Amino acid sequence: MEYTTLGKTGLEVSVAGLGCGGPSRLGMRDDPQSANHAIALVKQALDLGVNFIDTAQNYGTEPIVGKAIAGVPRDRVIISTKKTLPAEDHPDPAAEVVKGLEQSLKQIGTDYIDIYHLHGVEPKGYEFAKNRLLPAMRRLKEQGKICFIGVTEGFVPDPSHVMLQESLQENLWDVVMVGFSLLNPSARKTVLPLTQKNGVGTLNMFAVRRALSQPTRLKELCAELIAKGAIRKEALDPSDPLGFVLKMSNAPSLPEAAYRFCRHEPGVDVVLTGTGNPEHLKENIAAILKPPLPETVLQRLEKLFDGLDNLTGN
Ligand SMILES: NC(=O)c1ccc[n+]([C@@H]2O[C@H](COP(=O)([O-])OP(=O)(O)OC[C@H]3O[C@@H](n4cnc5c(N)ncnc54)[C@H](OP(=O)(O)O)[C@@H]3O)[C@@H](O)[C@H]2O)c1
Repeated sequence: MEYTTLGKTGLEVSVAGLGCGGPSRLGMRDDPQSANHAIALVKQALDLGVNFIDTAQNYGTEPIVGKAIAGVPRDRVIISTKKTLPAEDHPDPAAEVVKGLEQSLKQIGTDYIDIYHLHGVEPKGYEFAKNRLLPAMRRLKEQGKICFIGVTEGFVPDPSHVMLQESLQENLWDVVMVGFSLLNPSARKTVLPLTQKNGVGTLNMFAVRRALSQPTRLKELCAELIAKGAIRKEALDPSDPLGFVLKMSNAPSLPEAAYRFCRHEPGVDVVLTGTGNPEHLKENIAAILKPPLPETVLQRLEKLFDGLDNLTGN
């Protein structure tokens, strides 16, 4: 494993982080009875040198993380978890933050959280998050119950990073989580320069979703983009749209290419990978540790997708 410093937090984190949410939730979404399998996945990640684990109040995987890290010295693992946003008309939203944190501590079986995020803040909820929730998080930080404060964007409703662009101007967060992939690299221009300038630790989500793991979905998506005029018809082969990536590089699969694409982006500290499949976990961590894609491939990808800031890769 390779390790890096997570911005101004100073935390030494593995460049591959385990995502315990996403479409698979460690396999728990399809099979909520598979707790032992999910615990084994977290332990596998730790054995492979991963020390960064991301979960959330609403994933149902906090207790899994707790069981997997029981017995691991607490300072060997960095726990990132998130507070689901209370409704804006909640009578006491700050108390909800405190309650959520206490629940997370209990579920994970720890007395502090390394990085506590507000989960999926959308542009329309930003003022509420900043004015009504962030002060409560600051108090929890002062009490030592959380070490650093983060925010994650709602990438599906906000794929062009409106919330992060605004909030990074105000420099409110120690850490942010941003959607970034070879299909939507727009954060390169709008978010990563700001995180780098202010030393904000940066976690990468959405490196691989359906379009980069299911060939049929990729073909459908590219056909849609061509039909809309977002991509020129001649720019790719509709029957194998990203075949050139594998032909022009030594990557054996698109998920591998997609993880390598993210890993070597300046400003990305940790690439998150989530799965219910132990083989995928092993391959994905190995991919994150491989060299960058060739420059020729990066240039061709840039020509294709650089102007697109509305794709999530789903
Ligand atoms: N707004 C937010 O705060 C937010 C939103 C989304 C995610 N997250 C966090 O970020 C983490 C990463 O999220 P993500 O959106 O990038 O998704 P993800 O959780 O990494 O899920 C990746 C998906 O791709 C599939 N996959 C992974 N490796 C594969 C491979 N080698 N071959 C084929 N399929 C593969 C997985 O299915 P299999 O199970 O079949 O491998 C899974 O469905 C999440 O787990 C979560 O912790 C946060």
